[in-house]
Amino acid sequence: MRLQPDRLDRYLANRARLSRQDVRRLLAEDRVLVNGETSRIVDLEVRVFDRIELDGEMLQAGKAARYLMLHKPAGCASATQDATHRTVLDLIDEPDKQDLHIAGRLDFNTTGLMLLTNDGQWSRRLTQPTSLLGKVYLVETEDEIDPACVDAFAQGMYFRFENLTTLPAELVLLNPRRARLTLHEGRYHQVKRMFGRFNNKVTALHRESMGPLTLDLALEPGRYRSLTEQEIAQI
Ligand code: URA
Repeated sequence: MRLQPDRLDRYLANRARLSRQDVRRLLAEDRVLVNGETSRIVDLEVRVFDRIELDGEMLQAGKAARYLMLHKPAGCASATQDATHRTVLDLIDEPDKQDLHIAGRLDFNTTGLMLLTNDGQWSRRLTQPTSLLGKVYLVETEDEIDPACVDAFAQGMYFRFENLTTLPAELVLLNPRRARLTLHEGRYHQVKRMFGRFNNKVTALHRESMGPLTLDLALEPGRYRSLTEQEIAQI
């Protein structure tokens, strides 16, 4: 479930059943507190994380914003519900976990860094195509990696289905069947399709990082932790 923001005047009108005119008067009389401070800004963005008080009465206590880093194991669906498979949400033991969504899905057998949050603005900053944040993957392949992949990935690859060319991606060969790949977008099965163009099957895929956030090596597969204030602020 996504928790949508609202405008302060609309929020107050709906929540306290007031006319827009009454709302403007209350704001002008400094009778509304947002997170403990008076506000007169009619179009101030109100989020579920904000505490809103009117004449000393609590209209909204403010939900706790949640930011989790999970080491996704293989054999686990990147979904909040799945009829047949274990999901990443099944690994989370937190109150309000039904409010969480995934910021950047991974395939069923892909492992590594997965971020979950109830803050839609934060996850959009991380995943929106314009963010261009690097997502770093360790890739293992069935056959030896053709060195021509390095240039082909750097130039971008045309995907007919979406009618687009992938953004330049950096491939560093670590050994004949192992490489580190940095993508700046997240297209459907992108890594597998890029190697598939060279008739090479990806046998293991692991996401190490998304932008400035790197998987905590202390987290075993299936384990998670809250992000630190510093990590949250980096996005
Ligand atoms: N690319 C893929 O093909 N699979 C993933 O899980 C992530 C990126």
